[in-house]
Amino acid sequence: MRKKSVFINCMEALTANRKHSEARTLLNAGLKESAERQTAATAPAYELTKPYIFPAVDGNMTYHTSWGSHGVKNEAETILSVLNSFRLRSTLAKINQGPRLTQYVIEPAPGTQVQAILRHEKEFQAALHCNASLRFDNGYVYIEVPTGTETVFLGDMLIDNEFQSSDGFTMAIGMAVDGSKHYIDIAKACHILISGMTGSGKSIVLHNLILSLLMKKDPVQMHLYIIDPKATEFEYYKNLAACTVVSEVNGAVELLKSLCIEMDRRYSVLASTGCRDIDSYNAKFADAPMRRDIVFIDELSDLMSMGGKSVEGHIVRIAQKARACGIHLVIATQYPVAKVVTGLIKANMPTKICLRVGTVTNSMVALDMAGGEKLMGHGDMLFLPNGSLSPVRLQGGFVSETAINNVVAGLMKNQ
Ligand SMILES: Nc1ncnc2c1ncn2[C@@H]1O[C@H](COP(=O)(O)OP(=O)(O)OP(=O)(O)O)[C@@H](O)[C@H]1O
Ligand SMILES: [Mg+2]
Repeated sequence: MRKKSVFINCMEALTANRKHSEARTLLNAGLKESAERQTAATAPAYELTKPYIFPAVDGNMTYHTSWGSHGVKNEAETILSVLNSFRLRSTLAKINQGPRLTQYVIEPAPGTQVQAILRHEKEFQAALHCNASLRFDNGYVYIEVPTGTETVFLGDMLIDNEFQSSDGFTMAIGMAVDGSKHYIDIAKACHILISGMTGSGKSIVLHNLILSLLMKKDPVQMHLYIIDPKATEFEYYKNLAACTVVSEVNGAVELLKSLCIEMDRRYSVLASTGCRDIDSYNAKFADAPMRRDIVFIDELSDLMSMGGKSVEGHIVRIAQKARACGIHLVIATQYPVAKVVTGLIKANMPTKICLRVGTVTNSMVALDMAGGEKLMGHGDMLFLPNGSLSPVRLQGGFVSETAINNVVAGLMKNQ
């Protein structure tokens, strides 16, 4: 009742043409109060008492990804001789050398059967003495040869101008074989599903996403909820004002429930202020914007098995509806199987990151296509951004414990 009367007061204030700021203050005060009553598990709004200073990338993170060339000429000749021996007329259009892969781009001559090239994957592997993988995309056959164990550093993606100059909620994903760096804005990504077997690099991907956000956005602009059933992986962030780390299942279930209430509250704010979504609200009330809340879940199956049926219900509700009001999910799982990543969860997670998975079936659940089972592990991934039909192969950035500690120590100086 109280919440409603605050809205009515606020709308009256607006319509009576009183000062715009007066109406907004009224609205925010009432909503903050109702939020405190309704959503005990969610973090209260944060107020900055001094200018917020972000740590610099260069002083705090390892960077300078570099990689050398190897026997590219010999490999190219081997590939061409295999193609010739099966009379598969083609030319070598391009060679891309990345930190962990070399990619040979083959252009089939008109009339050459592409399927016939792809069928000979094993012959290419035997000739090259490695687990080369073949795929057809956009008119070309890509032969990808593992070449080294060079590391791509998160610092290199964060120091890049594209990241530094972006003003959205940009997160670094990884580096392609041609050296291009890939990022995604959480507003565009909507919700992200990360699949991969144990040791494939899921937690490191989550650190990449979390650190990217922490390096650019203050606790007024966003709050990160990190559900970490292992209770060791994300402890670093627990004292930061912008983060809440939850490690026990009951707390996690309570949090998801509170986020559903918070979502409904935000929808009523949007409706009563005549805004379509968080972007239009923030454009209208630029000096008191709505915060973005991003929920990271490190292992969905732990939560689903221990938290019961309600967990799926809450996740599906948030995934279906929360986008427009600035609540996002980033879910990682070791078990991309239909029992864990249910149809409803999957259908509402439009951005997908598939690290190495065990079987073609897992890859189908993770990505809706095969390919994840051929990846090399350690951050080698297929990234399918929201709205895209074919995934891009990337090497995720590595971030050391020291780098995380340095960034956190830098951020703590603001508190
Ligand atoms: N992008 C990367 N670059 C280099 N090495 C990586 C990368 N990602 C992961 N690794 C290596 O793989 C190890 C395992 O990564 P991580 O802990 O993220 O795996 P995981 O998928 O979360 O495993 P689990 O399911 O057991 O939690 C890391 O300790 C690191 O040595
Ligand atoms: Mg992990």
